[in-house]
Amino acid sequence: MSTQREPQVVRGLEGIYVATTELSRVDGENGRLYYRGYDIHDLVKYGDFEETVFLLWYGHLPTESEYDAFRKRLINYRFLPENLIKMLPLLPQGTIPITAIRTFLSALAAWDPWAEDNSRDAELENAARLTAGIASLLAKVQRVRTGQEIVEPRLDLDHASNFLYMFTGKEPSTEASAAMNAFLILYADHGFNASTFTARVTASTLSDMYSAIVAALGALKGPLHGGAMEAAMRQFIEIGHPENVDAWFEKALAQKRRIMGIGHRVYKTWDPRARILRERARVLAEKSSEPQWFEIAERLAERALNHPYFQERRLFPNVDYYGALVVYYLGIPPELYTIMFALSRVAGWAAHVIEQHADNRLMRPRALYVGPEHREYVPREKRT
Ligand SMILES: CC(C)(COP(=O)(O)OP(=O)(O)OC[C@H]1O[C@@H](n2cnc3c(N)ncnc32)[C@H](O)[C@@H]1OP(=O)(O)O)[C@@H](O)C(=O)NCCC(=O)NCCS
Repeated sequence: MSTQREPQVVRGLEGIYVATTELSRVDGENGRLYYRGYDIHDLVKYGDFEETVFLLWYGHLPTESEYDAFRKRLINYRFLPENLIKMLPLLPQGTIPITAIRTFLSALAAWDPWAEDNSRDAELENAARLTAGIASLLAKVQRVRTGQEIVEPRLDLDHASNFLYMFTGKEPSTEASAAMNAFLILYADHGFNASTFTARVTASTLSDMYSAIVAALGALKGPLHGGAMEAAMRQFIEIGHPENVDAWFEKALAQKRRIMGIGHRVYKTWDPRARILRERARVLAEKSSEPQWFEIAERLAERALNHPYFQERRLFPNVDYYGALVVYYLGIPPELYTIMFALSRVAGWAAHVIEQHADNRLMRPRALYVGPEHREYVPREKRT
């Protein structure tokens, strides 16, 4: 009798724990999210993106002097190498923005003297360069591809406001800065999602942080992961007017079409990030000349939340539903939403690379072979 157990194949690794983490805890049943034990509501209410990033990388909330020094370090890295900036217009016209960012983020490693150094100190420096760098890159790439003058970074603005300033060329309102900060805080980390897992697999080979983050960006690009925010916004635009919601909803149900921005693998109640971003979107919509997008989203969510189909399946709005509206009202076009996600998540990916390298084990699962057993080799001239 064989003592060997039949190997179990768990498609998509669903329900499998492959590592431990101290970074974020997702409580899907109760709709809570914590970063290193802090409720995201508190981090959004009292802090800014820089504070959350410090928390993720260093394990504690910064003191006043730690915060100041950290902020200055990020500010330094807002300035990209001159020769990298010269490369920005060289990609063919029509290159999709995330392809451009993935390329230039990878190129940034060439200017980083510590790029190949996996020590904790070097990785904390690389993480700062990547987090500040991706924001400058996105703002500059967008201005180049839309034929506008590049806007240089400001030293007096926080990370969120400086990004909006470099992107739009205008200093953002207090509400816009607050919404951008909330957006960045809320997307920073979320357990072992596909892109984070990709970063950790890459880091587990003892490859460097840049490689891990470029790989993660590649995973995020897929429509099953980072694409939902853009799809949610395009759906609101397709509906067009609040009065069209009911008919659109009935048709979507009849066609078994998924409502983008609704449902979540882990949250079986409201995604806590969606609730926070909903309020930020409401404030921005009130001040906007296009309040209809928020009204459409609200009416559609109400229809879904009150419908037995969604109630039975425990489907609620997720982070991308209201995240899409927030970034739309901040003046970001939908084709950039996946990179907007990365602008925040880069901090989480970096934290995971540091965590992986601190206690590394090569990630190397197995595949159950189901192909033919033994086939006889026939020389080419005898094959029919
Ligand atoms: C996020 C998502 C992939 C999670 O899916 P999941 O946990 O694998 O759930 P399933 O795909 O197994 O769906 C469970 C049931 O709910 C239905 N469902 C899930 N999301 C739905 C949606 N947004 N609209 C309509 N029906 C939906 C499925 O059709 C399925 O119905 P069935 O049991 O009759 O077949 C899914 O909810 C979805 O596709 N949402 C829209 C895309 C999105 O917003 N993604 C961003 C996630 S943060």
